[in-house]
Amino acid sequence: MITVKKILITGGAGFIGSHVVRRFVNNYPQYEIVNLDKLTYAGNLANLTDIENKPNYRFVKEDITDAQAIDELFKTENFDAVIHLAAESHVDRSISDPTAFVMTNVIGTVNLLNAARAYWKGSYDQKRFYHVSTDEVYGALGDEGMFTETTAYDPHSPYSASKASSDHFVRAYHDTYGMDCVISNCSNNYGSHHFPEKLIPLAINNIKNNKPVPVYGKGENVRDWLWVEDHARAIDVIFHNSKAGDTYNIGGHNEWKNIDLINLLCSIMDEKLGREKGESAKLITYVTDRAGHDLRYAIDSTKLQEQLDWVPSLQFEEGLAKTVDWYLQNEDWLTNVTSGNYQSYYEQQYSHK
Ligand code: NAD
Ligand code: TYD
Repeated sequence: MITVKKILITGGAGFIGSHVVRRFVNNYPQYEIVNLDKLTYAGNLANLTDIENKPNYRFVKEDITDAQAIDELFKTENFDAVIHLAAESHVDRSISDPTAFVMTNVIGTVNLLNAARAYWKGSYDQKRFYHVSTDEVYGALGDEGMFTETTAYDPHSPYSASKASSDHFVRAYHDTYGMDCVISNCSNNYGSHHFPEKLIPLAINNIKNNKPVPVYGKGENVRDWLWVEDHARAIDVIFHNSKAGDTYNIGGHNEWKNIDLINLLCSIMDEKLGREKGESAKLITYVTDRAGHDLRYAIDSTKLQEQLDWVPSLQFEEGLAKTVDWYLQNEDWLTNVTSGNYQSYYEQQYSHK
């Protein structure tokens, strides 16, 4: 098991990052946690108000594409480890602006690897660079099969191509320079603090406001959904217990066709909002499909289960109901993130569909 004192977590103001920061700050009071985030549209310090005053937590506003700033930070801080989540993360945005994804996801990752390598000076005992990645690097499945750690990379969207590229760089730094690097590739997450451009929080927000719920194509694409706190727990277990150069797949064993998921969500929302059964489902609207839309993702996480004893903790119906409760109880959060630029993004993304 690795022993560290000070961890740099990047992207900690985002959806998954905020859950990882919260878990590490609360569960490891002996660690110093530095959260570095640029605070893009997806980064929100309101995600961390419950831990922001803890003595083992600090926030640094920085951009990982700024190599010089990242170098300076490594020179002045004494990081033992990096858990790297900062990224542009939305497939639809990557279709309209691929370059932003190359800059943050590829160049930003290489900047962090360079700074860590320069600072650690080739001595990686009790040092670790943990890269958080996605199952989308493996491409799309047909009706059968699952992604394993040895599935060949075959990304299709600019987002997944940029994440695949960053994974290759991380592996290259392990293979070439002997850096202690670990990668995990996770399936779709859901839970609290999820920005409402992604399917589940967008649908919750629209159902709540009686707006059309856009379903791409025929709604037959399949995703494997994992509760975000189970992902954060998997990152914790892998960070502490894996070997240098290891890769783990993380998934929910929980495949849903988009249309079935949306129907389930509508029935949960009917109940929570005191609506008549079937009322929310009337909002479902089929819209033009996403370009290059991957048909199916499914993760085989046997390695993680067998080697590190990790399994998902929540059934999907329970997790989805908890998620809906969180959004209904946190209206201010939702209003805050959907004001301003969100409206123009929504207009641009959905008006022509
Ligand atoms: P998110 O978009 O909610 O958060 C990303 C965070 O990174 C934001 O706080 C943003 O401000 C920050 N960021 C963006 N560009 C930056 C830059 N140049 N410098 C510093 N900070 C920057 O994303 P998420 O859904 O929480 O995903 C986090 C990570 O997990 C990503 O690497 C993503 O690829 C990966 N992942 C996500 C999922 C998912 O279902 N959301 C699944 C598997 C893996
Ligand atoms: P998303 O949450 O964007 O995650 P990803 O593309 O990374 O899997 O989308 C999940 C699925 O839902 C995907 O198949 C695309 C689909 N989708 C819709 O049908 N409508 C929407 O408005 C959005 C955002 C996604």
